[in-house]
Amino acid sequence: MIMKIAVIGLGFVGLSLAAVLASKGYKTFGIDIDDKKCRVISKGYSTFFEPELEKTLRKGLKNNLVISNDFSLIKNCDFVFVTVGTPQKANGAIELSMIKNSVSKIGKILHNNKKDQIILIKSTVIPGTMKDVILPILEKNSKKKAGKDFGLISNPEFLQETTAIRDTKFPHAVVLGGYDTEYMKKAKRFFSKLHPNVPIIITNHQTAEMVKYANNSFLATKISFINQLSNICQNIPEANIDDISKTIGLDPRIGKLFLNAGPGYGGSCLPKDMKALINFASSVGVKPILLNAVEEINEKQVQQIIKLLEKKLNGISSRKITVMGTSFKPNTDDIRDSISIKLIKKLLKKKSKITVYDPKALENTKNIFGDKISYENSIIDALSKSQCAIFMTHWKEFEKIDNKSIRHMKRRLIIDCRRIFAEEKIDAEYYALGIGQ
Ligand SMILES: NC(=O)c1ccc[n+]([C@@H]2O[C@H](COP(=O)([O-])OP(=O)(O)OC[C@H]3O[C@@H](n4cnc5c(N)ncnc54)[C@H](O)[C@@H]3O)[C@@H](O)[C@H]2O)c1
Repeated sequence: MIMKIAVIGLGFVGLSLAAVLASKGYKTFGIDIDDKKCRVISKGYSTFFEPELEKTLRKGLKNNLVISNDFSLIKNCDFVFVTVGTPQKANGAIELSMIKNSVSKIGKILHNNKKDQIILIKSTVIPGTMKDVILPILEKNSKKKAGKDFGLISNPEFLQETTAIRDTKFPHAVVLGGYDTEYMKKAKRFFSKLHPNVPIIITNHQTAEMVKYANNSFLATKISFINQLSNICQNIPEANIDDISKTIGLDPRIGKLFLNAGPGYGGSCLPKDMKALINFASSVGVKPILLNAVEEINEKQVQQIIKLLEKKLNGISSRKITVMGTSFKPNTDDIRDSISIKLIKKLLKKKSKITVYDPKALENTKNIFGDKISYENSIIDALSKSQCAIFMTHWKEFEKIDNKSIRHMKRRLIIDCRRIFAEEKIDAEYYALGIGQ
């Protein structure tokens, strides 16, 4: 019999998972509270840009994928994955309302259901959430016992936006947190078949929840580490942070990834997960000295750019500044917690006149700034009459920029936070983060 799987919450994680499962032949139900989103997805379109996603989604829709806002579809499913958002609250803690809402609905459906279902929580939640929040809601609404009447497993997700499909198909590890029950054995069999040769780590709920924070806080630490070194390099004549990253990255104890110096980490995960972990550490009586330092370096990184601008433009009020790239990294339209957005907000406070260009993220940027800034659809138009261009995101198409593209700038001043032009002979006053003047 074909296995039936439900995925609750069709964002980056859920939609990628639902599309991959369906394309592999599982009967899959993708469920989201947002009816409008469901209608768009049902037609084979994603509501955000993610390479390979629409292709996989369309394959899934042809096979076995049903998209709906109807939770009752989970009734006959063997596995129910929860992938709803856990955004950040003002105090840094995570917002659990979406988790609570979705698991109480799941609980009510479990109540009248004879099937032994397994609920897997993929959303990132702080240690203890499964036992203290999710399990009680499920048991109360279903009037059933976890471990006996249904399975409950913590299954943190490690995918990266821009490689979400590949990461969903080929994860580096599968973590299953929970008790050693028949449900756990069934989940293990499922994942061994889905991802042959991928290590499966079976542990308890709290450890599984903590693994995700360990992962992301380590990545954030690597970024802040290299950014701190980058700031030092900038003060050593002709020192080059990229040669340093490349070299230390060859040491297998260090590894080359996440050592790209830049304006700081952003995106929907690292800033939020760092804040949640700092908040959680304090709540269990641990002073998170290192984590605080990682965050402080990140917060201050944007100041480097502003300081440089103020110095080179002799004040930035009413200066016409072009920001190249607003997505938090290339190949995505996601601007959640993007440093570029943070920079624009700061520049607007200082009364600069901002023009932006981004190949994918202009619409999302408009939703934040409206008519407070200008938007251009071409690199040339964005640079025209500008007094300074700041390159924030390393989009591949920026590499093609040459002297011809910049000749209509009012002042040819370039601040390159990604060292895109470090090796080029570009006819401009050129400053790059991480390269000593
Ligand atoms: N984006 C990433 O790169 C990434 C990677 C690993 C883990 N995570 C974690 O996975 C979780 C999901 O992240 P995301 O980026 O996919 O989020 P997202 O915001 O892109 O998507 C969440 C989806 O859940 C839906 N939703 C909200 N409440 C719901 C409800 N009650 N019932 C059904 N659907 C509901 C929303 O409409 C939305 O479509 C978060 O906890 C996040 O921290 C994200």
